[in-house]
Amino acid sequence: MIKLSFKNIKFLKFVNRIPIIKHFFILKISKSFTEIKDNKVLEKFYKDIYVQSRTSKKTEDNRFKNLENLTLKYLKENKYNYIHDIAVSSGITSNNLYDFLEKKFVNFNMDISDKYSKVYVKQGITTKIFDEDKNLVFAYFLCFFGGDKNIFFPFTVLLYKIINIFLSKFQYDYIQYLFHPEILKKVSRKEIKISEYDIFTTQISEKYTFVRAMNILNIGYFPEEKLLLAVNNIKNSLQEGGVFLVGRTSADNENNVSFFKKINNKLIHLEGFNKGSEIKKLILK
Ligand SMILES: C[S@@+](CC[C@H](N)C(=O)[O-])C[C@H]1O[C@@H](n2cnc3c(N)ncnc32)[C@H](O)[C@@H]1O
Repeated sequence: MIKLSFKNIKFLKFVNRIPIIKHFFILKISKSFTEIKDNKVLEKFYKDIYVQSRTSKKTEDNRFKNLENLTLKYLKENKYNYIHDIAVSSGITSNNLYDFLEKKFVNFNMDISDKYSKVYVKQGITTKIFDEDKNLVFAYFLCFFGGDKNIFFPFTVLLYKIINIFLSKFQYDYIQYLFHPEILKKVSRKEIKISEYDIFTTQISEKYTFVRAMNILNIGYFPEEKLLLAVNNIKNSLQEGGVFLVGRTSADNENNVSFFKKINNKLIHLEGFNKGSEIKKLILK
């Protein structure tokens, strides 16, 4: 089984409504990617994309709605907040948070980041999409989609592997941001800033009052040492008294999260929501 890619949004919107069949189709990236407004088509696209660390780019509109009031409680404690939303994928959830905080008259600035937000597109019979480190992220041969880790679509994975072995010389015709159009609008109005941030290598000192890292610091994605390295980098990027929100959305859309506060250069547990973060014990070790 292999996934088929199309640029026609009307067609993709239509097939998206058909159970099972919808899994066979994916959006084909083009220069007009950042003008696509249909969230369901975009969500389906991000769900099927896996980046070099084999983390998914899955995200959804209003995914963290039930965390908004808890987040607000901590932001209201400060006269001014500097927020960093990490590994945001399309940034749709950052857009949700931004709009919510604005309605609540919170005084804040927001940086967003995702190591794989910018891709390099080489067009042709085989269209190839590379990341910043020149790795092939995904590809299309004519309308056939080649992507890693799509477990129910072995030919999609096989096509990715073949293109990756034989045709993955880094070249590109244009650069494309994978952010949602609403985010790009806010960026152009200077309401949100895009920051270059790799959870493992970027060092920032005491800049933020609130950092959110959702669905990236997962036990299934990285070994303990790497998770601790990322948490330590985040801790360093927080001001004293700053709050760190970390968690994971389960397969049945339950947000299991924990809030921490930086006190005397240590992360102290404040509270959990649902089951709490799966790395809570690791952070407190
Ligand atoms: C599952 S998505 C999470 C999106 C969003 N936070 C949410 O929960 O809806 C994980 C994101 O982490 C990004 N990512 C993977 N490795 C990263 C790294 N080393 N540094 C920063 N971001 C990374 C991926 O590009 C992907 O968009």
